Amino acid sequence: MPITTCVFDAYGTLFDVAAAARGAASEPEFLAIRDTWPALAEHWRSKQLQYTWLRAITDAHTDFWTVTQDGLDWALEKTGHDGDPALRERLLALYWELQAYGEVPEMLHTLKNAGLNTAILSNGSPDMLNGAVQSAGIADVLDDSLSVQSVGIFKPDSRVYDLVGQRFGCAKDEVLFVSSNGWDVASATGYGFRTAWVNRSGEPMDRLPWIPNTVLDDLTGIPALAGV
Ligand code: LAC
Repeated sequence: MPITTCVFDAYGTLFDVAAAARGAASEPEFLAIRDTWPALAEHWRSKQLQYTWLRAITDAHTDFWTVTQDGLDWALEKTGHDGDPALRERLLALYWELQAYGEVPEMLHTLKNAGLNTAILSNGSPDMLNGAVQSAGIADVLDDSLSVQSVGIFKPDSRVYDLVGQRFGCAKDEVLFVSSNGWDVASATGYGFRTAWVNRSGEPMDRLPWIPNTVLDDLTGIPALAGV
């Protein structure tokens, strides 16, 4: 079945989640995180994701903005920066305007020009996704941003992946699902999507029952993979 629909995870895949801590660390007011920002960013992301999984399996769903703040609070305490409310506020503000990776606009333009459906499928709330899409200037090359909010559970619950077929009326094997998160792309493979894992930092493959169909260093190879 040819690929008709390319679907992207948002955070870490199209948008650089480390950009918030990296950006704050470059500002004179926040020199305190000049050395610790990589650990802060990693703990923030790691706790944010853990809280999504834990909330999914304990039937305690909340919005992604809440788990993003909870993860940040844990990370600030872990790295010794929990006594700095201005830093917290700045990091959260930057999360709403994360940079997209450099190749994203051209890659999406190529897919759209070829007539493919393009969308985000994310844990992010609609407001958060809208903020990131607008600040990256890619609204005109995305057909939709699908949020877990409408199903009330986080990835990798299959009801989230179901949103793609419901929106585009396509079969699972017409979908190329792209994520930088090993667990997300593994689960999407198990669901039945064709998949590409964007492994920018050379992470080991997750030990899960499903292996992504393709592994890429960045997003430039996506159009070729989609048959464009
Ligand atoms: C998302 C997270 C998992 O955008 O990166 O859904």
